[in-house]
Amino acid sequence: MLDIYKLDDEVLRTDTKDVDKFDSALKILVDAMFETLTEADGVGLAAPQVGVSKKLFIVDLSASGGDKYVFINPEILETSIEEGFYEEGCLSIPGFYRKVKRPLRVKVQAQDLNGKYFNIEADGLLARVIQHENDHLHKTLFIDHLEEEEKEKVIKAYRKKTSKKRKK
Ligand code: NI
Repeated sequence: MLDIYKLDDEVLRTDTKDVDKFDSALKILVDAMFETLTEADGVGLAAPQVGVSKKLFIVDLSASGGDKYVFINPEILETSIEEGFYEEGCLSIPGFYRKVKRPLRVKVQAQDLNGKYFNIEADGLLARVIQHENDHLHKTLFIDHLEEEEKEKVIKAYRKKTSKKRKK
């Protein structure tokens, strides 16, 4: 199990570097990320969320009958003009959910664990999770997509909640 870094942790707002070694250490990290994601009952996890400033994220839709994916050095090549709202949450801002507007479909290129390039066209939940996780590789959280006032509200409420917890 890896620690999941939270809203005010600097690592979430730090530049990420390309993965350049497709070695056993990378496989061990990805395995640990999948374990952490399962334990946290989430659908996606990006390396910065576990304190690693690298361009890598995973998606696990197996709970809803989907697949597991590893995206290394991903690049979103195309997004649909058509957008939609969908409620998002984030393991780095636990307990807060807001509707976020994003393109409904994406085309992505990435590398797998062996460094091999692949392309994927996604819609539905997968397209949503890919965009959310890819944002993490670019220092962006889902609350950054909200109106400034709403974003501030979430941040304040989150800080209030966590400071209360710490006092106990
Ligand atoms: Ni997130």
